[in-house]
Amino acid sequence: MKFTHTFGAALVAALLATACGKKEEAAPVAAAPAPAAAPAPARTSVEVLHYWTSGGEAKSAAELKAMLEAKGHEWKDFAVAGGGGDNAMTVLKSRAVSGNPPTAAQVKGPAIQEWANEGMLASIDNVAQAEKWDELLPKVVADVMKSNGNYVAAPVNVHRVNWMWANPEVLKQAGVAAMPKTWDEFFVAADKIKKSGNVALAHGGQNWQDFTVFESVVLGVGGPEFYTNALVKLDPAAIASPTMTKALTTFRKLKGYTDSASTGRDWNMTTAMVIGGKAGFQFMGDWAKGEFTAAGQKPGEGFLCAAAPGTANAYTFNVDSFIMFKLKDEAAQKAQGDLASAILSTEFQEVFNQNKGSIPVRLGHDMAKFDDCAKLSATDFVETAKSGGLVPSIAHGMAVEPAKAGAIQDAVTQFWNDDKLSVAEAQKRIAAAAK
Ligand code: BGC
Repeated sequence: MKFTHTFGAALVAALLATACGKKEEAAPVAAAPAPAAAPAPARTSVEVLHYWTSGGEAKSAAELKAMLEAKGHEWKDFAVAGGGGDNAMTVLKSRAVSGNPPTAAQVKGPAIQEWANEGMLASIDNVAQAEKWDELLPKVVADVMKSNGNYVAAPVNVHRVNWMWANPEVLKQAGVAAMPKTWDEFFVAADKIKKSGNVALAHGGQNWQDFTVFESVVLGVGGPEFYTNALVKLDPAAIASPTMTKALTTFRKLKGYTDSASTGRDWNMTTAMVIGGKAGFQFMGDWAKGEFTAAGQKPGEGFLCAAAPGTANAYTFNVDSFIMFKLKDEAAQKAQGDLASAILSTEFQEVFNQNKGSIPVRLGHDMAKFDDCAKLSATDFVETAKSGGLVPSIAHGMAVEPAKAGAIQDAVTQFWNDDKLSVAEAQKRIAAAAK
């Protein structure tokens, strides 16, 4: 595990001894549902760590809570504020190290493997087998949820990261007739908005938000193959290439269209600038749609969505998921199985994803009640999977193991924050972080 240095092998062994009983093997969680004749089980408290604290996110988390409570368990909320989950992961590690992990935690991408490799995760394979997850889930998603062929995480949704959100009124006032399709068109539109007195680009200056914008620029400038080479395979030649130079130059240019109060601003406050007509555009994953929706806005009316410039043929995916910790208590194991089962249910997928801005992770889910942005996302997910345009988001922990992704993220933020740092130096720093 790449955070072994943080944990310490001995510490982890001690933790496992405390949390699971020393000689205990991976205790598979029980498959739901319980036999009909069984007496009603006592309510088990299920502590769930997550970082869904904005308006749209909290509405979505409430759905999960309701679903779990309907199965007779008690939801113990362990919400850690801070978009993108950096704070939540720090808190989770310290809880785990102290031998007291929660029942379940929102963890995704390669980090799932890291926790599994430490022997800390319960297998949810019997629930997955009973409910045929291999048939329900896209392979690209199922693979991430498994360790040694066993499911150790339950996927909640598919978020698309390479979105551009806009306020149609702000665009209209500035004389911008259509959503820009290329970066050149974007800068023409942004100049007009700036001239009209509004902020062209709403941006929250935090590392993960900088990184979110950066990956969309790399995708738009270089295309999915270049993105894969540079930000998934971390190929030094791609990172040192003129295409990366162009991407960094474009990324830097964006800063001139942001406002001076951007530093540290939360992503949902940034979306609020677009919702409130103070800013024209925002580059953010479709959890931002959860904010527009929670504010009562509809796509095509209150707000517009389109793929970030140059990325219509590509899709940066970001799948939220929950891992279950290995626990001794059988009631807790049963509750973990119930939680996993609830997460994949059609009812949950339908209501949760409409609030969250994402699309259901179940293949072939009926999209009739979803809005046009979600419908586009669902179509593009399938199309880009065929064309090779479906790529994992590095900024959202899907592409590269956390320690390396964090180091690259820091290099990108240093570049964004320091106007004197040259593009060539930034390329060197990204390459060094990627080693
Ligand atoms: C998560 C989303 C979350 C967003 C902002 C992303 O990394 O996948 O579920 O809404 O961060 O917190």
